[in-house]
Amino acid sequence: MLKLKNINVQIDNKLILNNFNLKINKGEIHVIMGPNGAGKSTLSSVIMGNPGVSLTKGDILFEDVSIKKNSVDQRAKKGIFLAFQYPPQLEGITNLQFLKAIIHKKLPLFELYQKIENEKKILKMPDDYLRREVNTNFSGGEKKRNEIMQMKMLNPKLIILDEIDSGLDVDSLKLVMQEIKKYFNREVSILIITHYSKVVKYLKPDYVHIMKNGQLVKTGDISLAEQIEEFGYGDN
Ligand SMILES: Nc1ncnc2c1ncn2[C@@H]1O[C@H](COP(=O)(O)OP(=O)(O)OP(=O)(O)O)[C@@H](O)[C@H]1O
Ligand SMILES: [Mg+2]
Repeated sequence: MLKLKNINVQIDNKLILNNFNLKINKGEIHVIMGPNGAGKSTLSSVIMGNPGVSLTKGDILFEDVSIKKNSVDQRAKKGIFLAFQYPPQLEGITNLQFLKAIIHKKLPLFELYQKIENEKKILKMPDDYLRREVNTNFSGGEKKRNEIMQMKMLNPKLIILDEIDSGLDVDSLKLVMQEIKKYFNREVSILIITHYSKVVKYLKPDYVHIMKNGQLVKTGDISLAEQIEEFGYGDN
């Protein structure tokens, strides 16, 4: 599904990812953990094609085709989705306008509204959700649930969740984890960035990677996340 081959990534001439490699097959769940500033969000930005980060070496393949020259929307249309660590506010655009705009599969209007209403209920979005501007004056947890709402409307194949758990209360966390699990199948791949072994235990990933200073320094299974929780990342 996704292959990162020896990539270097720079932001403002500073090297953030250094000779980074990662391969995610169809039907796999990968977790990346790592200290603040390790480069985890930069990794999600470069996969999604954020123009603020530059890929200076290596290649990114999605379904065996290089996407490094593709724009963000081209990547999204291919089936890559990123739930932001800090979801942006889109003032002047209502959630209804936004959801209608991002769905590229043409649905009859009635079915579209039905789908939106259904997901809105499942994700416990506020009653006036559709009329409100995207993420504007949303609580932290509402913003995160809105990311999942968008994910479910877009139907992506590769899902990157950058700290989807942060800011969620216990019930919302349970709900979001359930929805991710429900969405996951053998045709889908998930990359989750998190600081918490609770998330790891719940989602039972195939691999847990530790990222430090722009590189993956260790790969293991769920027990690696437990080790990190107990002993931290250490100094080396
Ligand atoms: N726009 C930017 N300008 C300058 N430096 C940046 C920019 N974005 C990120 N960085 C730097 O890149 C490094 C990696 O940041 P990144 O956000 O990828 O870390 P992270 O692993 O996601 O951390 P956290 O766990 O805190 O979310 C940091 O040192 C950060 O200061
Ligand atoms: Mg981050």
